[in-house]
Amino acid sequence: MSKKEDFFLIEEVVSPSKKPKKKNEEIVDVEGLSKEELQKIKSFNGLTAKEWASLSMPIWSDLSSPRNRFQLEHGAVYPVKLVERLVKMYSREGDIVFDPFMGIGSTMIGSQNLLRNCIGTELNPKFFELANQWKDENLGLFNSDSKLHYKIVNDDCRNLDKYIAKNKVQLTVTSPPYADFIQKSVEDRTKTHKKSIIKLENNSTVKQYSEHNDDFGNLPYNEFLEQIKVVLEKNLYITKSGGYSCWVVKDYRDTKNGIPYIPFHSDLARAGEEVGWKYQDLIIWDQSKQRRLVLLGYPSVFYTNQNCSFIVIFRKP
Ligand SMILES: C[S@@+](CC[C@H](N)C(=O)[O-])C[C@H]1O[C@@H](n2cnc3c(N)ncnc32)[C@H](O)[C@@H]1O
Repeated sequence: MSKKEDFFLIEEVVSPSKKPKKKNEEIVDVEGLSKEELQKIKSFNGLTAKEWASLSMPIWSDLSSPRNRFQLEHGAVYPVKLVERLVKMYSREGDIVFDPFMGIGSTMIGSQNLLRNCIGTELNPKFFELANQWKDENLGLFNSDSKLHYKIVNDDCRNLDKYIAKNKVQLTVTSPPYADFIQKSVEDRTKTHKKSIIKLENNSTVKQYSEHNDDFGNLPYNEFLEQIKVVLEKNLYITKSGGYSCWVVKDYRDTKNGIPYIPFHSDLARAGEEVGWKYQDLIIWDQSKQRRLVLLGYPSVFYTNQNCSFIVIFRKP
């Protein structure tokens, strides 16, 4: 499909000046398929043009949902709704979805719910166990003899190419630990922010993942970026040509060390490009409705509350 056609399709769907067709006016082709059925076959992700356009918002603020017992055991999970949206946008039924930092398995659950295969790695044995329990419990909800495959490996994600062959994965959805920032923020909260809104009213459960040497959450930022590059390179190797990789990340501040802003999302994008990914898109996940504003830098230096995450989207050329 040419670029021109891409835009035409979206225009056609969202233009308010166009009257919607009545059901009996639907275009039907020779084989009896409706226009929408044909669009589902034609599009790489199985979406109709209308569904495609409705998923193309660049800022997401409608993803908050109550946490279940698995999610409460982990300090930093993303909502299954977020995974499901990315899965609908960038893959079709039967494709393989991958997550190198599986945590308690949100990517697995979103993939199961939408009939995609899923594989992932998780270093921490406790989260690995929980992810398997949630996966099995969720699978029990489906009354089907599905041929789909679901696997979580308890290993360092830098070994991912031991478990997945070249050019197999359509989509990666993941969120890495943010270097040793979590440790810094745990320290900060115990010392400085004991009574702050973050701890008391937002019920934040932020905690260090493990003491393990291979845990990316124990690496200083520069070394962390180097190791993320290793993962991105192997991620590219297992991804099909035209496949996508979506990284949910936050930017940081390290004001104690005189660094007002650490642009992790752009450092990540550069690391991805350096190993051969195309930087395809950027989505802002606005979480400001879930977080109260905290007084920062008063009265001498003004800082905004960074209550949003970024979803960096790469595509394999
Ligand atoms: C931000 S959490 C991911 C949470 C996940 N998105 C979810 O919703 O459950 C990052 C995870 O990466 C894991 N991790 C850290 N270093 C790792 C490594 N070298 N290989 C695999 N997993 C690692 C941590 O144990 C942690 O569970």
